[in-house]
Amino acid sequence: MSMQLSPQSEATVAATAAVVAAHADEITATFYPAMFAAHPELRNVFNAANQAIGEQPKALAASVVAFAVQLIDPDAPDFTPVLQRIAHKHVSLGIRAPEYTIVGRHLMAAIGTVLGDAVTPEVAAAWDEVYWLFATQLIAEEARLYALGGTDPEQPWREYRVTARQEHSAEVFSLLLTPVAGELPEVRTGQYIAIAVDLPSGQRQPRQYTVSNGPGADALRVTIKRVRGADGTPDGVVSGWLHEYAQPGTVLEVSQPAGDVVLDNTAAPLVLVSAGIGITPVAAIMADVSQNQPDRTVRLFHADRSHAQHPLYTELREQVLAMPDARGQNWYEEHAAAAPTLVPARSGFMDFTGVEIPTDAQVFMCGPLPFMQSARRELMGQGIAAGNIHYEVFGPDMWAQNPA
Ligand SMILES: Cc1cc2nc3c(=O)[nH]c(=O)nc-3n(C[C@H](O)[C@H](O)[C@H](O)COP(=O)(O)OP(=O)(O)OC[C@H]3O[C@@H](n4cnc5c(N)ncnc54)[C@H](O)[C@@H]3O)c2cc1C
Ligand code: HEM
Repeated sequence: MSMQLSPQSEATVAATAAVVAAHADEITATFYPAMFAAHPELRNVFNAANQAIGEQPKALAASVVAFAVQLIDPDAPDFTPVLQRIAHKHVSLGIRAPEYTIVGRHLMAAIGTVLGDAVTPEVAAAWDEVYWLFATQLIAEEARLYALGGTDPEQPWREYRVTARQEHSAEVFSLLLTPVAGELPEVRTGQYIAIAVDLPSGQRQPRQYTVSNGPGADALRVTIKRVRGADGTPDGVVSGWLHEYAQPGTVLEVSQPAGDVVLDNTAAPLVLVSAGIGITPVAAIMADVSQNQPDRTVRLFHADRSHAQHPLYTELREQVLAMPDARGQNWYEEHAAAAPTLVPARSGFMDFTGVEIPTDAQVFMCGPLPFMQSARRELMGQGIAAGNIHYEVFGPDMWAQNPA
């Protein structure tokens, strides 16, 4: 770590990290409403559903405390991957450097409100230093990513036109997107873009969607699952809006591609693990590998409710058939026996008993967190090193802070 806390702050942070950690949820629960009251425009930047469910507050709080702890612990694991994950997410959302001042001010005020008299001037100064060490590293990395993408951070959104739309099932559809002006951006296989929509409520909301096609295409494809509410929870606002209104000709606001989970260009065997709509990065990887490394060993493992719901199955099947050493195995919760897959589908949740896994593989996975945690445990049990397992989360990544 190139930057360090001052010795006096280090001692103060060491003495107060546990109490800040214990109140982290309360601190961020105080911080967001106060910040939104002072800066209502930021409601259009943050994910309203994450706010309602409380996921994002936990991710922010957990990451600041984790950052502080690794600053004062000489044996702490490298923090770069966590920093990268956040910077890519921020860049896809068009976060700008001046906004760090706003977040910092309200975060410090919230620490004061929640911890009260415990926040002496020394404690406040030490945590302010922690915040700004973290912020300056994120700002620098985000500036680098904007420059690489040729994006002016003052204008992070670019107009794209929907050139085609395809329905895969009642819930899942793809959009092909091309910039209204200029060239397609460079996309590293596995990356996502954000699409921002102006909702009928007057609110504007961005959401990330993985680019699901491979390099060399003349449009970016996104494959979207329309999220339905269950047990009284509302339908997804952005996926629902796109399902209803995005048609050929519709112009959408799209951010620069970002994301740190990208295909390696080594020759190592690949193990691709997905569930449900988590198949989108797998589809991009398969499109790339089948084109550029057709002889590479690939094992595709997918879990879904049923074969009818398995998104992009047909194209993945064709790619598997065209590659000499690609093989797939699917798990379906319903009607597995009747599924017309290449290899008989298994019934129930994914489990690797009896499945041969190349132990020197690079693993990419995407799906709900509990699904990935269980798959990761099993793969490690079969001898795959933790460092070779890469994953994308379709929501705030709370696993990076706690990869148990
Ligand atoms: C890196 C990344 C890549 C992604 N790639 C893809 C992709 O390729 N394809 C894809 O389809 N998706 C992808 N996603 C997910 C996508 O970004 C959205 O999260 C998804 O489309 C849902 O957004 P929404 O606005 O429709 O739903 P939201 O309105 O955000 O709702 C999400 C959930 O929260 C619940 N909720 C909302 N408000 C409340 C409340 N008050 N109380 C309780 N529950 C509530 C809703 O019922 C719903 O289940 C990706 C996400 C990330 C982070
Ligand atoms: C040091 C300061 C900051 C830290 C430590 C931080 C941390 C984080 C973390 C951990 C995530 C979740 C990443 C993931 O999905 O894995 C996140 C997402 C996000 N951050 Fe930050 N962040 C900081 C500053 C900011 C600023 C200045 C803004 C803009 C005002 C911002 C806006 C967002 C948004 C919009 C998301 C996406 C999640 C959502 O919408 O709920 N962050 N940040």
